Parts: sequence; structure tokens; C-alpha cells
Amino acid sequence: MNKTWWKEAVIYQIYPRSFMDSNGDGIGDLKGITSRLDYLKYLGIDVIWLSPVYQSPNDDNGYDISDYQAIMEEFGSMEDFDEMLAEAHKRGIRIVMDLVVNHTSDEHKWFMESRKSEDNAYRDYYIWREGKDAQTPPNNWGSCFSGSAWQYDEETSMYYLHLFSKKQPDLNWDNPQVRKEVFDMMTWWCDKGIDGFRMDVISMISKTEEMPDGAMRGPYGDFSPYCIHGPNVHKYLQEMNEKVLSKYDIMTVGETAGVTVEHAKQYAGENTHELNMVFQFEHVEGEGKYGKWGTEKTPLPKLKKILSRWQTELYGAAWNSLYWDNHDQPRAVSRFGDDRPEYRDLSAKMLATCLHMMQGTPYIYQGEELGMTNYPFQNPSDFRDIESINAYKEWCAEGSVSHEDFWPCIIARSRDNARTPVQWDDSAQAGFTTGTPWIAVNPNYKEINAKAETADTASVFHYYKKLITLRKENPVIVYGKYELLLPDSEELFVYTRTLENEKLLVVCNFSDKETAFTMPEEFVSASCLISNLPNAYDKQEITLKPYEAFVLQKK
Ligand code: GLC
Ligand code: CA
Repeated sequence: MNKTWWKEAVIYQIYPRSFMDSNGDGIGDLKGITSRLDYLKYLGIDVIWLSPVYQSPNDDNGYDISDYQAIMEEFGSMEDFDEMLAEAHKRGIRIVMDLVVNHTSDEHKWFMESRKSEDNAYRDYYIWREGKDAQTPPNNWGSCFSGSAWQYDEETSMYYLHLFSKKQPDLNWDNPQVRKEVFDMMTWWCDKGIDGFRMDVISMISKTEEMPDGAMRGPYGDFSPYCIHGPNVHKYLQEMNEKVLSKYDIMTVGETAGVTVEHAKQYAGENTHELNMVFQFEHVEGEGKYGKWGTEKTPLPKLKKILSRWQTELYGAAWNSLYWDNHDQPRAVSRFGDDRPEYRDLSAKMLATCLHMMQGTPYIYQGEELGMTNYPFQNPSDFRDIESINAYKEWCAEGSVSHEDFWPCIIARSRDNARTPVQWDDSAQAGFTTGTPWIAVNPNYKEINAKAETADTASVFHYYKKLITLRKENPVIVYGKYELLLPDSEELFVYTRTLENEKLLVVCNFSDKETAFTMPEEFVSASCLISNLPNAYDKQEITLKPYEAFVLQKK
């Protein structure tokens, strides 16, 4: 297995709008990020993945880009960006940019040209089709953000495709001119000195030519068989690799909706010349009661089976990325742990142990290192996210599901859970802004905040810091082979990591019950690398407290 810096790195995701506001307008910004770099350095992370900071009308908080080479005004200027990059590099922190090129904003100049006429030079930059008839779109596909995936445009009496909001028209990657524009833009950023790309829904860039109706699920058809891992996706990524990526010492991670282990071996294979790693979704995509919306918790045996399959099958063949949450998911501790006050701290540390001891590059989503929780939403007007707003409308206001039924499901999964401001201290607005934040601060900021946690060596923050240090000191954590023990246990997630004659045992109690565990012989006299409770692990029969976690090392 090749050794590389990005295999050994720990990555921290920043959602700039909610990270730190420097000028009191209630919106996080680049200067805010620069002002907190020392905090990130202290935590010990190596790389920042920066969610989009490009010019955008913010229909989808920056994932709708109107100029790839300009900074969103609310976030600052290109000078602010350059300063942030330089200050990060000074501290040994690399910056990975979000690359959103499945679609642009409808306010991008390419699209504004494209919609003007059928013979416009930019017409083929996007995907235009005639409707089936005047009232019916070309096919039945539904957008990820509700409604049809086709928008009728009066100018030319044709429809354009948008797999996300109607302000996010899909680019036509089959047009070589589009690919050239994207590759030139990427080169421009690489020449500026950035350190990589996280590629937004990159598994969707190639569409089948025919575009048939999809299977129905709800009022609209499913487009995924025709847009995910489409016919030319690997060809286009190889071309991107050859023309841009291979020329720089950068890292890439693809957001690949619908990816299987087999696909991942191609997208992120050691020798496939596409990407370095991908985000898979199997462990966060459990079907809810209403599509993705639901309150169910994945049973532990199933969660272990999914994560273990990725660990085992990619070993030596491709590289994993490890995450519990991000800006599109609810908070990790609320979803996979237990955010009741008596268990929040312990279960946040337990989840961190379980993830950071696996093979792959770990991602920490802002605030996860503090054990931040889901937000107690009271009513639909609390939402800021287009997905939650539209889903509520589609299922409740216009649909047949009652508010009482739907509410618990939508608040459990809403992306806004992850988007409330980072809780810096216990002052007004959690120290995020001196003004009014664009989205409400979680009321628990007086107990849960960075100031308190950096001052307390027993905090979730310091636990993450220690996990990061351990990864740096122990190659077995990065390169060791993974093996799952007790696959059927409904309480315990137990695995080993082995590299030559070094071996780790990782034991995590995912339940709120005391649970008995029989230590494998070989670990009875091993040393404890880290644990979230003081306990003695030098005997064979032990009882784990609720959410207890520990790692033993045998040399
Ligand atoms: C990705 C992003 C998400 C965004 C969508 C459309 O899934 O992570 O936030 O809404 O793509 O760009
Ligand atoms: Ca601001």
C-alpha cells in the first residue's frame, strides 16, 4: 500500500456560513475562519475542507455557483481568501476546496447565455429537451429537492434539467467545451496553491443519452439509474486526472451518491487514476418513514456490517473516508450516540473512538469535536434549508401526511441541525456573531462551547485532540488491517487493527446499558491507549458502562 500524506491526515470540514462571523452581519466569513485557525491548529487537524465560498445567490447556501473565480460577497474578498490560505499554510494546515460542477447557478453567465436561444454558443453547456407535450416535461424524474427535475423555460419553450433546485441547472459534461472550462478553472485554483478538491455529487455528472422515465417513488420518478455512475463518469474523471489532478500534489475526495464498494474501487482505486477517496452513504442513508425522513436508528449489527464491509473490501485496493456527519446530515451524537445530558459527553467520545480507529481518512464536521447536538426545532419557519422547506411543503402542506406524523421525522434528519452556528463561548449568540445570526444558535451553548471545552482536559474536544495525536504516533491506526469481532452483538462494536507485530483492540459500547465483555486472551495484559472512562482492563471478564469505549495496544 502506498503511503501518502492524505492517508495520514485528519480533515476538518468548515461550513463557512456557520463557522465564525467577523463583522457582525450574522453570517460566517473568511476573516472569521482566519481568526480561528489557531483553534484548529491546537486541535491538531491537517486539512480543512471548505464548503463553497464562491459567488452565489445562495439558493442552496453556496452549492449554486454563479462565478467559480470570485468569492461570495458575504464571505469577503479574494484578498481575504489569499490571506486565509497563507495563514493556514503557515500553520501547516492545507485547504481543500468544494468543487461543485455537476451544476451551476441559473445566474451563472453560461446559463444566462444558454437560455437565450437554441443557437447560442452556450446552449449545449446545459441539458435542454423538448417536453412530451406543452404541459408535460421530457420525463418523470423528480429533483432531490422535491418537484420535477425539469423546468420549463419560456424563452425557447424547452425544459432544462436540474437534479437539485431549479436554480441549479445541470451542466452537460458530454460537451468537451464544458469539460475544458471546468478543468481550466480547477487549474486556476491549483495554481493559486490550494491543496485539493471535495467534489460535489461527482457520481452524477454523466447522464444516459436516452433519459427514460424512472421507477416511481412518491409523486416523481427516480432518476438515479440514469444519472448516477452514468456511462462516461469514469472517462471524464480520468480525463480530469490527466489534465489537472496529476500535475499537483493535491488530494481529492468524491461525494459519490449511490456508490457501492465495487464502484469505489474504480473511483478511488490505488491505480485507477481518478480520485483519492470517496464518501460512501450506506451508513447514513437508512430509509426513513417518509423517504429520507424518519426517526429510526440503524440497528448496530447492520451498521457494523456496512462499515466493516467498506473496511475489509477496500483494504489495499482503494482508500476509505470516515465520517459520522457533515453539513447534509444531522449531528452525529444525536443520531448515532445519545444526546441526553447524562450521556452526551460519553457517547460523543465513544463515536469518535469507533471512527478514528478505523482505516481511512477521518473527517470531523465543525462542532462535532465539541459534541454539538441537533437543534430543538419548534416549527417549520425555523428552517433555512431549501431541502427541509420544500420537503415539508411536499409531504405536509400539499401532501397527505399530518404535521404530527411528519414533524419528528423531519427534525431528526434536517440538514439545518448541522448548520446552526459553532458554539464558541457562553456569551450572547455563543460568540459566533455580535449581530443576529442567519440561523438560530442552539440554546445549549452555555453548557456546550469551545471555550469551556478547551479549558477542560476531560472534554470531548480534548478527547478528539488525543485521538488525532494517537493517529500521528501509531502507523497501525493508519495502515493496519481491520477485523470485526462479535458481529451479532447488539450493544458492542469491537474490532482489531493489525500491522506487522502491532495490534489494537477497539471496544465501543453503543448502548445505554451495562454490557459484559470477555477480553480476548492476548489483550489481557495490553496497555490502554485511550478510554472515555477510568476502568481497569487487565482482566478477562469486564463490564462496560453505558457508552464506554477503550482501545488496547499489544506490541
Ligand atoms: C451535495 C451537497 C449538498 C448540496 C447538493 C447539491 O450533496 O453536499 O449540500 O445541496 O450536493 O449541490
Ligand atoms: Ca460576516
